[in-house]
Amino acid sequence: MTDAAEFRRHSQDALARGNLDLAVAYLQTALRQDPADRESYHTLGRLLRLAGRGDSAAAWYKACLHRYPDDSVARMGLAALGQGPAPDRLPDDVVLYIFDRNAKVYETNMEGLAYRIPETLTPMLAAEKGTARGDLDILDLGCGSGWCGPLLRPFARRLVGLDLSPAMLDLARAKNAYDELVEGEILGALQGGRLGTFDAIVAANVVLYFGKLEPLAEAITKSLKPSGAFVFDVEKGATDRAEFHSAGRFTHGRQLLERVFAPPLYARSRIQETVMRTEAGRPVHALCCVATAPAA
Ligand SMILES: C[S@@+](CC[C@H](N)C(=O)[O-])C[C@H]1O[C@@H](n2cnc3c(N)ncnc32)[C@H](O)[C@@H]1O
Repeated sequence: MTDAAEFRRHSQDALARGNLDLAVAYLQTALRQDPADRESYHTLGRLLRLAGRGDSAAAWYKACLHRYPDDSVARMGLAALGQGPAPDRLPDDVVLYIFDRNAKVYETNMEGLAYRIPETLTPMLAAEKGTARGDLDILDLGCGSGWCGPLLRPFARRLVGLDLSPAMLDLARAKNAYDELVEGEILGALQGGRLGTFDAIVAANVVLYFGKLEPLAEAITKSLKPSGAFVFDVEKGATDRAEFHSAGRFTHGRQLLERVFAPPLYARSRIQETVMRTEAGRPVHALCCVATAPAA
């Protein structure tokens, strides 16, 4: 008898051929075969949510929660559809669900979406800290596959990468750009103070997984040396609040950044707008920011 995993593989093939309806049908068959196949609930929810079929997506997330009441991937899926409370930040197991399993295809996927945030943030770092002289202690927060590593290396005396995902860290290690790679959660690691202090902290495409910016802003300024720079991007929001949207990311508005990255935590912030990447063929707008810690 064909098992659920086999139907999931057929579903992936159908998706690769651009046939969403067939992919969905295979996943439904997988669940008829094995109603406990959690992976199929997750994938059905995600595919339908990203295709704009929110009601169907929500039904599958609810079915998943009926069987697995603590399932945070389903909970976050419903929250992204506006049918549940938005978290303060994406939970660790959801971050791993998104990134750890897909690490191998992360860079190819992002190149296909014209992702350019690391290349945008590096000149902003240079504008703040001067041209690359290899004399800065730099932390790459949510370093992922290490995309920023080779760009930051010329600036760095010490370059540390931090990420939750072991599979992403393996890819970053292969770049040979970092002095140290640390597996850990950003807030926990910074609040624990175990990484030391830095001239610059860079976070490319990471702050969009945080809704509540205040704890992050506070932990980061404490991890910066006097006049140190936090260089990061967010997905541009239309309001002055963080909004959790259907793609499962937060948007943040300019006023919000100006309010959070302000005295007394930060001496000043400078914001510029750019296109982060595309999604379904449309540009995703970003705000890139350099927030400078107070001088000693
Ligand atoms: C979109 S990727 C960006 C990776 C890299 N900075 C880049 O520009 O390609 C986001 C990364 O942030 C990590 N991440 C998200 N939230 C995190 C958290 N709370 N603690 C540690 N890592 C986190 C993910 O594991 C993932 O590798």
